[in-house]
Amino acid sequence: MRQKMAAGNWKLNGTSATLVELQALAEAYGTAGVDVLICPPASLLHRAAEVAKGSAVTLGGQDCHAAVSGAHTGDTSAEMLKDAGATAVILGHSERRADHFETDATVCAKAEAAMASGLITIVCLGESLEQREAGETLDIIGAQLAGSVPAGATGDTLVVAYEPIWAIGTGKVPTLEQIGEVHAFLRAQLILRFGGEIGGAVRLLYGGSVKPGNAAEIFAVGDVDGALVGGASLRAADFSPIIAALEAA
Ligand code: PGA
Repeated sequence: MRQKMAAGNWKLNGTSATLVELQALAEAYGTAGVDVLICPPASLLHRAAEVAKGSAVTLGGQDCHAAVSGAHTGDTSAEMLKDAGATAVILGHSERRADHFETDATVCAKAEAAMASGLITIVCLGESLEQREAGETLDIIGAQLAGSVPAGATGDTLVVAYEPIWAIGTGKVPTLEQIGEVHAFLRAQLILRFGGEIGGAVRLLYGGSVKPGNAAEIFAVGDVDGALVGGASLRAADFSPIIAALEAA
């Protein structure tokens, strides 16, 4: 049985005042039936770890550098995230791929570093609207998966998030059939590459406009082990019903 995961990606949102939302989650989830992860901006990680201490809420970064340390101004290493209280990191989000020109090879190198640091590594992939309309979705997803996930990944270290770019922050969600098709494809590809034991243990998250109102039906789709949530993770009042839907799934 794969442990389900509700992951929140705060992106470039959150100052110390926002920690009240994390506080509310931590108070609501002293224990939880699923993994609850919040990825605040790196500037808040250390304080967020203090706030979440003793609760079921864990913390993650939104990116890391492939190097452990060195002359890389403005970057943060996996070791640094871990030191600040993170147990996970999101890598290869489509906004990083677009804004920072991250390639599959970049993401793969970062993922290797994150796994070596013992962080749960959430590798994101997803097609653009043009690619979907051209019927290229599975080719694109397959290539991203092959190129972004390092050898040596395991069910403990790797989580894959399918996030169609056109569904992120838009309120548009693929049909349940489309989500199911991609997740089944990802599962099959992981099993082909890593074998049944590891490929069957890697968790697959869906991301893109997950809200309290659509979470339950998405979580009922085969091979959906949870969600990566942007906008609706910013407020405890929105994220809590998503966690509850996942616990009930
Ligand atoms: P969204 O973002 O839930 O705001 O669509 C999801 C994501 O980018 O991870």
